[in-house]
Amino acid sequence: MYCAAVLLLASGCAAKSVGYLGNLRANVQAPQQTLLSLVAAAANAKSDPSQFEVASLASLAQSLSKSGGVEETIQTIKGLVDGMLGSITSEANAAQAGVQNTSLYTQCTAQKGAAMADISALSGGTTESAAHAQCVKELTALNATYQSCLSQEELLHVTKEARCEYFASIDRSANFQSWFCHEDDYPESSSYESYLQRNIDMLAEFRSKSNCTDATSSYNTKMAECQTKQTPVASKELQCATLESSATSALCAPYEGKLAVCKTYESCWSAAGSAAGNSLNTAQSIQDNLKTQWTALKRIQCLLDVLAKSGDQTAALTACIAKTHSTDSLTLTPAAAPTKEVCSAGTAPAACVA
Ligand SMILES: *[C@@H]1O[C@H](CO)[C@@H](O)[C@H](O)[C@H]1NC(C)=O
Ligand SMILES: *[C@@H]1O[C@H](CO)[C@@H](O)[C@H](O)[C@H]1NC(C)=O
Ligand SMILES: *[C@@H]1O[C@H](CO)[C@@H](O)[C@H](O)[C@H]1NC(C)=O
Repeated sequence: MYCAAVLLLASGCAAKSVGYLGNLRANVQAPQQTLLSLVAAAANAKSDPSQFEVASLASLAQSLSKSGGVEETIQTIKGLVDGMLGSITSEANAAQAGVQNTSLYTQCTAQKGAAMADISALSGGTTESAAHAQCVKELTALNATYQSCLSQEELLHVTKEARCEYFASIDRSANFQSWFCHEDDYPESSSYESYLQRNIDMLAEFRSKSNCTDATSSYNTKMAECQTKQTPVASKELQCATLESSATSALCAPYEGKLAVCKTYESCWSAAGSAAGNSLNTAQSIQDNLKTQWTALKRIQCLLDVLAKSGDQTAALTACIAKTHSTDSLTLTPAAAPTKEVCSAGTAPAACVA
C-alpha cells in the first residue's frame, strides 16, 4: 500500500501502480474514497507533515464526501490542491529569498567601514605629541638654568679651595701663644721694623682668612641655590616621561584599532560564510521536500481531472502516472558571496611595537 500510494504519486513504481489503478477503476462507485485513501497514505508517508497538509486535506475530503456528491468533492479537493501548490510556491520563494540574502556579509563590511571612520576621527597622538614637545622645551630651559648654576657652583668651589688652602698654608693660629706672648715685647727682644712686619703679616693672614670665609660662604649659597633648581628639573623630567608614554600610546591607538577592526572583519566574514552555508543546506532540504510535495500534488491534480471524467478512464490514468512535472520553478539559485573588501591597518608607526 505504501508503494502503491506514494509511488503512484511520485512515479517509479509503475508496475504496482497499474495494478492499483485497476483497483481504482473497479471501484468507480466510490472514487472519492479511493482518492481519500491515496491522499491519506501520501500524508502518512510524508517526512515533513508540517510542510504538507495532505492529512487535513484528506479529512476535509472525507467529511465533504459524506454530505456532497463526487463532483463537488473533487472540485473542493482541486481547490485545496491549488491552494497547497500556491503555498509551496510561496515557501520556495521564501527559501530563495533566504539564499539570495547577503546582508550578513554587507553588515560586516558596513561595520568595518564605520569602525574605520571612528578611528580616522582620533587625534592620532597629535595633541599628546604637542604636549610632550612643550614639556621637553620647558625641561631644556630648566635644565639649562640648573646646569649654568652648577658651573657657577663649580667655579666658586675652585676659588674657595684655593683661598682656603692658601690660608691654611700661612695659618699660625696653632702656635698663636708664642706668636703673641714672646714676640710682642718691643723694643727689648726685637727691632721696631720686625715688630711692624709681624703685624703686616698678621693683617695679611687675617685678610686671607676672611677671603677663605667669604669664598666658602659664596660657594655654600650657590650650592643651596643650585639644589633648589634641581628638583624642578627632576619633576619636569618625570612629567615629560609620562607625556611621552601617553603620546606614544595615542599615536599607536589608531594603528592598533585598525588591526583589531581587520581581525573582527575577518571573523565576521567567516561567520557570515558559515551562516550562509548553513542556511543554504536548510533551504536545500526544504527545497527537496517541496519538490516531492509539488510532484505529488501535480499528480493528484491530474488524477482528479481523470476522476471527474465519465467513461473509461484507464488511458487517462496511465497518462497521469507517466507524466512528469517540472520542478524547475522551485530550484534554488543561491547568491554568490559579495566581494570581500581589503582591510589594512597600514604600516605600524615606528614607535608602536605591534
Ligand atoms: C536577510 O537576513 C538578515 C539577517 O539574517 C535579516 O535580518 C533580514 O531581514 C533578511 N532580509 C531579507 C530581505 O530577507
Ligand atoms: C641636562 O643637561 C646636561 C648637560 O647638557 C645633560 O647631560 C643632561 O642629560 C640634561 N638632563 C636632562 C634631564 O635633560
Ligand atoms: C683676597 O682676595 C682678593 C680678591 O677678592 C685678592 O685680591 C687678595 O689678594 C686676597 N688676599 C689674600 C691675603 O689672599
